Amino acid sequence: MLIRLPTGAVELTIPRAVHTPPPSSIVLARLIDVRPGDTVLDLGCGSGLLAIAAAKLGARRVVAADVDSEALAATRENARRQGVADRVVTREGSWLEAATGEAPFAVIMATPPQTPGPRPFGPRYGGWDGADHLVHIAGAARDHLERRRGRLWMLAISLANPERLRRALAGNYREVQIVHKTDREFSAAEYDSRLPGLMDHLLALREDGKAVFSPTAGGGWVFQNLFFRAARPRAATLPAGAEPDPAGPAATANLAGANARKVGEEYS
Ligand SMILES: C[S@@+](CC[C@H](N)C(=O)[O-])C[C@H]1O[C@@H](n2cnc3c(N)ncnc32)[C@H](O)[C@@H]1O
Repeated sequence: MLIRLPTGAVELTIPRAVHTPPPSSIVLARLIDVRPGDTVLDLGCGSGLLAIAAAKLGARRVVAADVDSEALAATRENARRQGVADRVVTREGSWLEAATGEAPFAVIMATPPQTPGPRPFGPRYGGWDGADHLVHIAGAARDHLERRRGRLWMLAISLANPERLRRALAGNYREVQIVHKTDREFSAAEYDSRLPGLMDHLLALREDGKAVFSPTAGGGWVFQNLFFRAARPRAATLPAGAEPDPAGPAATANLAGANARKVGEEYS
């Protein structure tokens, strides 16, 4: 798979059992604000796209973590072929467990599984509303970021209770932005093929305000990929992962930028 990044083209080899980077991951790889000398953590690295993109931007050390040993092997091989193996190390473990003993990072990136579902159905499952991994990482990453300049980048789909994620981020970081959005069309058949009845579950979440998607003129549906950047981690006053009262001051965190305001309004 050939991927064009601002730093040049990257060729990735992706074994059958390893997640193939979707267009949204490629967009995230182009957005991340990794600076020369940064230390970076790629949570759920898959084939290593984001880790390699960070190294190409000049990161001095990238920890690429996953629970899947095949993903870690693919990341090592892709990093070697891209000439960045000296700066990309792999760690096996669940989310922030993989960062145990590491110094705080300048940048943490994650695109975790986040498809909602009434019950577990496979590797894409993210809990009842899809946001369980996202919200866990939002809280747990805070204490692994450099206090002054650390930033967390996450891709979140608007099917996965984006308002719950926004609240979790606002409780843990002083700056929260949706810096970019892209549309993703889908059909009921696509989701029902993952689990029979899944589209009905999505429609029920939408009715409840926990999933955001719209019908298209062609009879299908469209959701949004939301590219979140959270910076300036708060002091640990809330337990990591805690979700603050949405009416509290944390909910007024800086959702700066036209995209962010637009998306925020759509959720309200
Ligand atoms: C949607 S894929 C994203 C892969 C890669 N970041 C990309 O954008 O192409 C999610 C990745 O998270 C990994 N993963 C799932 N659960 C995990 C966990 N508890 N801890 C760490 N990684 C996990 C999966 O093995 C998979 O590689």
